[in-house]
Order: sequence, then C-alpha cells, then structure tokens
Amino acid sequence: MGHQLNPSSSLHFLLFLFSITLGWTSNSTCDNCDQKLSCNCSYEGFRHVPTVTSYALTLDLSFNDIAVVANGDLRGHERLKALSLRGNRLATIEQSVFDSLWSLEELDLSDNQLTRLNSQWFNRLGALQQLNLLNNPYRSLPSPPPFRALLRLRRLAFGGVALEELRRGDLTGVTELDELTVHANNLKKYDVGTLADVWPLGCVTLSLHGPFLTNVPLASTVLNDVSYPETPMVLLDIHLIHNDSVHPFTETTRRRVRSISFRNLSVSDEAIVEMLVAMDGAPTTLISVEDATLTGEGRWERARWTDHKSIDEIFLRNAVVLDVFQFTSFLQLGFLLQYPRRVSVINARLFVLPCLSSRLLLNLQYVDLSNNLLTDLTLDESLCHGDGTLKDLRVLNISGNSLKSLSTLSRLVHKLSKLTHLDVSTNGYSYMPQVCSWPSTLRYLNISQAKLTTITHCLPITLEVLDLSNNDLKSFSVKLPALRELHLTGNKLLMLPPGSMFSNLQLLTIQSNTLNMFGRSDLQDYKRLRNLQAGQNKFVCSCGFVSFFQSEMNGGGTVHFTDGAESYACDSPLYLQGELVGGVHLSVVECHQVLFVSVSCAVALVVGILLGALLWRLHVLWYLKMMLVWLKAKRSFRRRQQQREGGSSEALLCFDAFVSYSERDAGWVENFLVPELEEPREEGGGAANAQIPCPLSLCLHKRDFLPGHWIVDNIMSAMERSRRTVFILSENFVRSDWCRYELDFSHFRLFDGYANSNTAILILLEPLSKDDIPKRFCKLRKLMSSTTYLEWPQEDERRAEFWESLRNALRGEEEED
Ligand SMILES: *[C@@H]1O[C@H](CO)[C@@H](O)[C@H](O)[C@H]1NC(C)=O
Ligand SMILES: *[C@@H]1O[C@H](CO)[C@@H](O)[C@H](O)[C@H]1NC(C)=O
Ligand SMILES: *[C@@H]1O[C@H](CO)[C@@H](O)[C@H](O)[C@H]1NC(C)=O
Ligand SMILES: *[C@@H]1O[C@H](CO)[C@@H](O)[C@H](O)[C@H]1NC(C)=O
Repeated sequence: MGHQLNPSSSLHFLLFLFSITLGWTSNSTCDNCDQKLSCNCSYEGFRHVPTVTSYALTLDLSFNDIAVVANGDLRGHERLKALSLRGNRLATIEQSVFDSLWSLEELDLSDNQLTRLNSQWFNRLGALQQLNLLNNPYRSLPSPPPFRALLRLRRLAFGGVALEELRRGDLTGVTELDELTVHANNLKKYDVGTLADVWPLGCVTLSLHGPFLTNVPLASTVLNDVSYPETPMVLLDIHLIHNDSVHPFTETTRRRVRSISFRNLSVSDEAIVEMLVAMDGAPTTLISVEDATLTGEGRWERARWTDHKSIDEIFLRNAVVLDVFQFTSFLQLGFLLQYPRRVSVINARLFVLPCLSSRLLLNLQYVDLSNNLLTDLTLDESLCHGDGTLKDLRVLNISGNSLKSLSTLSRLVHKLSKLTHLDVSTNGYSYMPQVCSWPSTLRYLNISQAKLTTITHCLPITLEVLDLSNNDLKSFSVKLPALRELHLTGNKLLMLPPGSMFSNLQLLTIQSNTLNMFGRSDLQDYKRLRNLQAGQNKFVCSCGFVSFFQSEMNGGGTVHFTDGAESYACDSPLYLQGELVGGVHLSVVECHQVLFVSVSCAVALVVGILLGALLWRLHVLWYLKMMLVWLKAKRSFRRRQQQREGGSSEALLCFDAFVSYSERDAGWVENFLVPELEEPREEGGGAANAQIPCPLSLCLHKRDFLPGHWIVDNIMSAMERSRRTVFILSENFVRSDWCRYELDFSHFRLFDGYANSNTAILILLEPLSKDDIPKRFCKLRKLMSSTTYLEWPQEDERRAEFWESLRNALRGEEEED
C-alpha cells in the first residue's frame, strides 16, 4: 500500500492554517462603546486585547479567547476605571501590563488559567477598589504579598479549586474590606491568623467544602479568623453529615456572629441537631439557607433543650427534603419556632403547615410561603381555619401557590387584625365574590398573575397599594379612595379607569393593555397622579393624542411617564405603526381636518367664481350655445335637403333677399329699405331716362317667419329660400344674438357651397369699423374684410346712389346665375 492522504487530517491542517491567518489578520478593534464610555467587547472571540478608544472608562473583555496580555496591550488607558478579563483563557499576564492604569478601580481576572499570580501586577494600582481573582488554578498567593499597594481595596475575591495553601502574611496590607470572598474548597494548609488582619468586614463569603468534610480543625481556624459579630457570614458548598463537621459553628457562636447564611448546603438530621447544640445560646439573629438539600427526616427533637431566643429571622429558599413523606412534622420545633418574627420558606414544596405548628409561631409578623404547593384546603389548615392564630402577622406572602378561592382567603385572614400586606399573586383566582371580609388594616394587596376577569366590591377600600396586573380585566370601576398605587399592567383595558374613583392615586401602571389613547381630561380626574406607566399599548396616533403626549413629555403636565417615551409606540394608523408617539409629526391636513375642509371649500369657491368670471369674460358659454345651435341647425338643414331632393327646387327660392337686422334697426328697414326695394317709385327728379326699378321681394323675419317654428329653423329656411342675405350692420346688430346666428348661417351657406359666394351683402347703417366688432365675431370681421359693403349715407343726395348699388348687388349677379 502506498502513501494515502488522509482527508480529515488535511482538513485539520487547512483549518489550522485558516485559524492562524485569522489570528493574525483579524482586525482587533472594538468600538462597541456607549455614551458613558463603557465599552462592551465581551463574547467577540478576540484572541488579543483589541484596540479600544483611550477615552474608555469601562472595558469589558469578558468571555473572549484571550490567552496573553502583553505589556503594551493596555497602554494609553490611563482613564480606565473598570476592566474585566473574566472567562478568557488567560494564562500569561506580563509583569507591567497594568502599570499605566492609574485610575483603575475594578479589575476582574476570574475564571481564567492563571497558574501563578504576580505581585508586580498590582504594584501601581493605587486606586483599585475591587479585585476578583476567583477560579484560577493557582495553588497559593505569591510572595511578596501581592495586595500591599492596594490601599483602597474594598472588595477582594480570590481562590479556586487549586488553592491549597494560605500563609501568614499573604494578605498583608489588606486591613479594611467591605467584602471578602475566598474559595478554598481544597485548602490543605492554613496559617492561623492569615485572614484575621482583615477587619472590619461588611460581609465574608467562604467556600470551604473540603475542610468541612476532611479537616474540620482547619475550617474552624478559618472561621474563627473571619468571625465578627457585625459581619454577616456566607458559607458556600458545604456538606454537613457527620456530627463533628459542625464543630466550626462553636467558633462562630463564640465569636457572636449574628448572621449566618448557607448556600448550596447539604445537611443531615444529625448535623442539624449538632449544629443547634453548637449554637446553643448564640446571639444569631438570622439564619438563611438557599439551595439546601435535607437528607434527613426532620428529627431534631434531641436539640429541644437548646436556646435560640435571639433568632429573629429564618429564611429558607429552594429547599429539597429528600424524603419529604418521612418528614415528621414541625411539632417538635417549638423550641425554635416560638422566637422568629420573620419566616420565609420559599420554593420548598411545602404543601401544608399544620395548624399546631402555626400555633407555635408565637412571634410571627412576616411569613413568606411563596412558590410552594399550598391549596385552599391546606391554607385553611395552615391558618387554623381563620381563628386568628398568628395574631401578630403583618405580612402574609402566599404568592405562587395553587389557591383558587378569594372568599376562603378573606375568611381565613379576616381575624388577622394586624395584617397590612397580603401577597396572593400567581395563584389560580379566577372569580371575585361580591363581598369579602378583610381585616381593616389591610393596605397592600397583590392579586397579580391570576385569571380575574371582573372586579367587585370585594376589594377592601382601605387599600393603598393594589396590584392586579396580568389578569384578564376589561374594565375597572371600584372606588378606592385610599389607593396610592394601582398596577393594571397586562390586562385588557380599553381606557384608563375613571380617575374620580381614586382621589389619592399617585402611581398608575397600565402597560401592555389595549388602550387606544387618553387625554388631558382623563388625567385631570386623577387629582394626585404623578407617575403613569402606560407604554406598550395599542395607541391610535390621532392628532389630539400625539400633541397631548408630546406636550406632557415636554413637562406640560404634572404627570410623568416614568416608563420612558420609548415605550409609547403607535399601533395605528398603519403608516405610523411602530413609530414612537413622541417622535411622530402629523401634518396640518391630518390635524385640522375641519379647518382644512372649510379652507379648501372656500378656495374651491373662489377658484370657481374666478373661473366663472373668466368664462364669462371670454364668452365661453356663448360659444357653446352657438356651437349647439349651429350643430342643430346643420342637422335640420340636412333633413330639409333630403326632403327637397324628391321635390322641385324652384319653389324654394321665393325671396330675393333675406334681411337680417336687429330689432332696433327695424325702423330703418321698414321705413327705408322695404319701401324702396319692394315698392319702388320713380325718383322725384323726373329724369327722362328714369325707369321704375322692378320690385324685389324681401324676407323679413317679422313678416315672413312661420309662427310656431323654432327660430333657428325659421332663419335657416328663410335664408335658404332667399337668394341673398342682407345684413344690416349697426351697433345694435352686433349686440343681437339672433342676428349673429343669421350671419353665421349665411356663412355656413357660403361654405357649404349651396349658393355662390356673394350671397351676403353687408349694409353699414352707421360707420362701423372692423375693430369696433368684438373679436369673437370673427366671421363678421372676416366677412367685412372680404366682402365689400355698402354704407348708408347720412346725406340725402347720395342715397339714390346707395339704393342703386344695393339693387345692383341684389340683382346684378342674379343675371349671371
Ligand atoms: C454545590 O456544592 C457541591 C459540593 O458540596 C459542588 O460539587 C457543587 O458544584 C455545588 N453546586 C453549585 C451550584 O455551586
Ligand atoms: C457523633 O455521632 C456518633 C454516631 O454517629 C456518636 O457515637 C457520637 O457520640 C456523636 N458525637 C457527639 C458529640 O454527639
Ligand atoms: C412575595 O413573594 C414573591 C415571590 O417570592 C416576591 O416576588 C414578592 O415580592 C413577595 N411579596 C412581598 C410583599 O414581599
Ligand atoms: C406583586 O406580585 C408580583 C409577583 O410576585 C411581583 O412581581 C410584583 O412586584 C408585586 N407587586 C407589587 C406592587 O409589589
């Protein structure tokens, strides 16, 4: 077999090359900085410290891939106040990397691969207040003591799985801390007094899993060194099984520690008994346990004789009782339960607190049984059927259980005459009865995250804070005069509840409902409202709402929208959907519709009037009328022509001339024209050669028009039946519409070629220049320029000549025909 190329290895090689190239070329720059100059460069896969603006105040490089921080990497960051390199692969930090960070107050190097710490690193960090070195694989702290120069240090956290040794002097220089955290689960060697110089402490957190299990004396020594009466102690990851593993608590008792908290505790019955014994008579006021596993059955009665009267608060959260059904009862715990004023048992699968145990809780003022398995039935038992046990109770928190009946609840708490706070949120209440009986002291009621659809007068009027958020309410109308805070977020309200019902309300949250809008008048009813949170609703961005909102936002009103303008977005109209109400600009058209409509009507009216005036001025109507008449006339002309086609045409021409004249000129026509042409007489001169001219027949509308016919038809037929048309032109003629029709028709005849071109004869009764005729009578103007016209002479002696010419004109061409 020859050499074979392994595809997967070559792929790896390629990937290797690729990643090297990436490593070299990836442009290590991070500019994800906000206005406060806080630069978030976490989770970016950086393999080297990236270039970041030297103005940065906070630099978060957590959860990258940085393995080495070299000397120059942080140069220029003199202003930097906080630096996090948490969760990298950091194995090497060169000696003077942090030297230039004079302003650094917080440094986080936790969750890395630092196998050794270097005392030089922190030499110049005089301003450092917080230092986190947790979870690195170093075995011990370096020498010389690394924290000497950190004069301002307030919070120090160090240690990890590899930490085996703490030597006297390791914490030299650290004299005053607020918080000390040491993870020393595998501590093997501890010099007495190593942590003892650190004093006083605000809080000390120790993780000493191994020592508690295998080296109890060492654990005792450590505890002894950090125990101070006022310093709360937090112990992590402790597994207490054997009766001697609780020995360190004799130290805390001796040192009079007041507050002890356990997290991630696993404990047996035996150890609890021993602990109670160890803490007999201790001044401890708070015992807090989170994330606990009880491997026993609650058989603690052997410690009954011990004294714990200092205990004020017992806090238990996230507890698992491994053998919950074997759990005896709390009954033997009277020695413990009679003292505390505050008891919290949260998320511990508690389904009942037997009435007899409740009766043991003599001092109880505050109880938090949230996130358990209580039902109406077991609550009834726990509160002893409402007989007023727990008479000092002020706060009852049974949030997150399986309760369903508000009337049962109110009956059970009715006699708790000091109860002020009742938190029954996250239960199954779906119905509110009409009447309930609450203690008259109740001020705070939380029924959020239930399934209520309506509310009734069940709500006590003494309430000052009411939380009904995340229900299914569609309206809210119960008068609550004392209410200061009302929470209605996450319901289905369409409008703000009427403000007149809440004369004292100062805070209203009504986010994520179905509000469309609200206005100043709605808010004015709330006399004392200061804070309103109404974002995430389906706002209709009408002009009124938008302008109201923007003016309120700009400080126009007394109500503040404390959830911020960015929570208020338009839902409709569609084109504004998603836009912030505060940023919307509506146009004048949208905002003043009535005004807009009236203005545009007015404008339209004015334009209409102007247009009308213009049309009138340009005689457009007249033109239209003319056109109509003309078309109609043309049609009737055709009709007559067809009729005529069959008959003779001789009968047609029965007049010599049709006289077109204005009614005002009738005098002249009747007195001069008609007598002269129709009844000619010899001229008074008695000339020998004078002859009497033949009479001519004239068609006058007055005389010859057929009554009852359309005037245009009459005109038409008169013209057709006349050989010529005589137009008597005068100012009056120009002014008369009908005369103009006649003119038109004659023209139309001219061009129709029905007669020869000289059918029209113009007589000017008064001197009338072409320019005196309005422009729109273009036909007349044209005619005047193309046809010679006769002027009626004012002087008598020239009239004979005029008549002569006229007669010639009327007859002359007749001979040519
Ligand atoms: C709880 O403590 C045990 C040791 O007792 C440890 O192994 C475990 O990781 C711890 N759990 C958490 C969540 O810290
Ligand atoms: C510790 O428990 C063992 C049995 O597990 C018992 O013999 C011993 O007496 C106990 N020690 C103390 C101090 O109670
Ligand atoms: C009641 O318990 C819940 C859940 O633990 C908590 O959120 C709430 O704040 C508590 N209520 C009061 C009044 O303390
Ligand atoms: C009411 O209870 C819910 C759920 O426990 C909690 O988140 C809320 O803060 C409480 N409301 C008030 C006003 O405390």
